[in-house]
Amino acid sequence: MPGGPLLPALLLRGLRVEPPVLLAPMAGLTHTAFRRLVRELGAGGLLTTEMLSARSLPREDRAHSPYLRRTPSERPLSYQLLVADPAEVAPALDVLHAEGADACDLNMGCPAPQARRRGGGSRLMERPDVARAIVAEARRRTGLPLTAKIRLGERLEEAPLREFCCMLEAEGIDLVTVHARLRGEPYGRRPRWDWAGKVKQWLRVPVVANGGVFDETDAQRCLAASSCDGIMVGRGAAVRPWFLADVAAALRGETPAAPPALPAVYQRFAVLLGESFAPERRLGRLKEFTRYFAQSYAFGHTLTSAIQASRSLGEALDRAQAFFAAEEGSGAPWIAGDRAVAAASPGSPDP
Ligand SMILES: Cc1cc2nc3c(=O)[nH]c(=O)nc-3n(C[C@H](O)[C@H](O)[C@H](O)COP(=O)(O)O)c2cc1C
Repeated sequence: MPGGPLLPALLLRGLRVEPPVLLAPMAGLTHTAFRRLVRELGAGGLLTTEMLSARSLPREDRAHSPYLRRTPSERPLSYQLLVADPAEVAPALDVLHAEGADACDLNMGCPAPQARRRGGGSRLMERPDVARAIVAEARRRTGLPLTAKIRLGERLEEAPLREFCCMLEAEGIDLVTVHARLRGEPYGRRPRWDWAGKVKQWLRVPVVANGGVFDETDAQRCLAASSCDGIMVGRGAAVRPWFLADVAAALRGETPAAPPALPAVYQRFAVLLGESFAPERRLGRLKEFTRYFAQSYAFGHTLTSAIQASRSLGEALDRAQAFFAAEEGSGAPWIAGDRAVAAASPGSPDP
């Protein structure tokens, strides 16, 4: 595109995020296997873990924890912490430092009751003094880029949102991601990208817009409405794991590459699950992924139901193969006897 990329790289304390396209943290989805998949399909930018409980993290068995598993290709990688109390910060950051984290994100937007009951996630926006103490403590304890992910709050009110965001910046947050919905608003609701734009106007640190970006037009509209410094993509990357690369291409003014064959992507994900997780942990993650991935097909709900009803990874893959053969014809790319299928002994329940 004449004039170069629409958005420059983000620079966060020496960490260069280029393109400024970020994977959204998604519990049950953005684990090592998924991150490897999106990386293999061209994602640059910044990857992330699922949210990690700061309270539990120091007790994790670091060598075996499925939440801490990562490979060298998953860089740069931000670790998202669900924190409710400043006392949880230092021990959790010790783990992140030992793991070689590239950045740390503080979850201040999660509306889930379990997170809120403990005082974390979006509850922190209602407890600004605790949020301030958490950020101050984190800033004291780490030289890593420190970011915060927020929603718009309880009601559409500029004053409290502005005060909260300015407090984050004053305490040393390096970047704010705005999931452009109020705490109580469902995912089906159109995101309020213009409100991410308000936050952008109030702050000097970079602001990233999140929510409801499912195709390149959404990405462009989101940027036009918000003037933000980057885009964070969640479910769109689970539906189409190559989508982060497409967004980056759109930001460069380029036409995205032709999409890969869906059956091959699905099977590759299964192989990566097999490489990454103990047998009993693979099927649940395949089910979670399938809920989104299947949306690429008009009759994807039949794939979702078939996988949900499967009792083993092997059975799930047999059913997926049948679905793809029916959808795409017998020429659907499918490598019989791949490692994931072999590891799960097709048709038999996982141990
Ligand atoms: C299955 C799922 C799990 C999520 N888990 C997290 C999480 O762990 N931490 C977080 O900050 N947000 C979480 N979110 C919210 C996403 O990060 C993102 O803000 C939201 O999905 C909107 O972006 P999208 O429209 O691009 O998906 C989750 C969303 C989904 C759908």
